Amino acid sequence: LPDEVRELLAARIHDVPDYPKPGVTFKDITPLLADPEAFSALTDVLAALVARHGATKVVGLEARGFILAAPAAVRAGVGFVPVRKAGKLPGATLSQTYDLEYGSAEIEIHAEDLGAGDRVLVIDDVLATGGTADASVQLIRRAGAEVAGVAMLLELSFLDGRSRVERALEGAPLDAL
Ligand code: PRP
Repeated sequence: LPDEVRELLAARIHDVPDYPKPGVTFKDITPLLADPEAFSALTDVLAALVARHGATKVVGLEARGFILAAPAAVRAGVGFVPVRKAGKLPGATLSQTYDLEYGSAEIEIHAEDLGAGDRVLVIDDVLATGGTADASVQLIRRAGAEVAGVAMLLELSFLDGRSRVERALEGAPLDAL
């Protein structure tokens, strides 16, 4: 990632202290999305990753992942497939449950949107514990497709989600911009 692009993106991601609860610092990407130069530069970087990893599809993770993944898929000339929180997709789905700090979460994908011969790049905004990305990798494989890699705008390295996702990826690349 060229330094000037990294600096442009970093300048448009704002730290919001004590949101959504005291002691947590929220990374707000909305200033980046509102700046056409920054959003376009990010889309170029993500589309280049699609090409570099030979992906034939992009999977975006609800909800903020959709915003980053969809334009990257269009710019790269590949299809977009959403991974949604449970209960939102109307067709035949595959679902995956994963643990949260308290309780569990469930995500789904339309089984027919992916298949053998697809190589998938997963795109999301933030890597935290890695649970969502890990579960998405499992879903894509269960749909019969290959995982080309995972690309994140931000990585909260103090949570070490990277080790969980790298384990799931079995050698495929994890790029955090
Ligand atoms: C956030 C973020 C990632 C996920 C990362 O989404 O956008 O998808 O959490 O956390 P993890 O690495 O610990 O799994 P969130 O569930 O807040 O959903 P949203 O994008 O719909 O707000």
